[in-house]
Amino acid sequence: ARAALGSRNLILVGLMGAGKSSVGRLVAQQLGVPFVDSDIEIERVSRMTITELFAAYGEEEFRALEARVMKRLLKGGPRVVSTGGGAFINARTRKHIKKGGLSIWLKADLDVLWDRVNKRDTRPLLKTENPKQTLENLMNARYPVYAEADLTVLSRDVRKEVMADEVLR
Ligand code: S3P
Repeated sequence: ARAALGSRNLILVGLMGAGKSSVGRLVAQQLGVPFVDSDIEIERVSRMTITELFAAYGEEEFRALEARVMKRLLKGGPRVVSTGGGAFINARTRKHIKKGGLSIWLKADLDVLWDRVNKRDTRPLLKTENPKQTLENLMNARYPVYAEADLTVLSRDVRKEVMADEVLR
């Protein structure tokens, strides 16, 4: 798999709670290439948390910053890059991702996603009256776009080791 990657990046896309970061870290270890999490990189360069960025500048500014960070991250391949859930949905960022390597959609059921995001209260987009409903709405709106990724890995098994093996396969 490492040889097949060449200097291209492997980019994980999908909704919040799909396991992009934890699976990505494992895949990178097994491939022997660096791992980067675009949300963490955004927080590092802005010296703000994602929540603070949304509150201070709004989603649109966040998307512009995300596009710039992604473009830069993808230049240093080969890497495994996990993206924020909205990255692939943004046309500009999606173009960078498509150009920068192999994109893989980690697809999971609503209940699996909800179970994961519900444990950590760090997603500004889910600070609504009914966050599970919001997540479902995002899922319905975004699935046709995620489907444009090069490959889809279905999380039938929620263990990250199993998911990582599927991605490598
Ligand atoms: C977002 C997902 C988050 C983060 C931001 C917006 C989204 O990343 O980028 O809160 O639009 O789905 P995770 O998918 O890592 O939670």
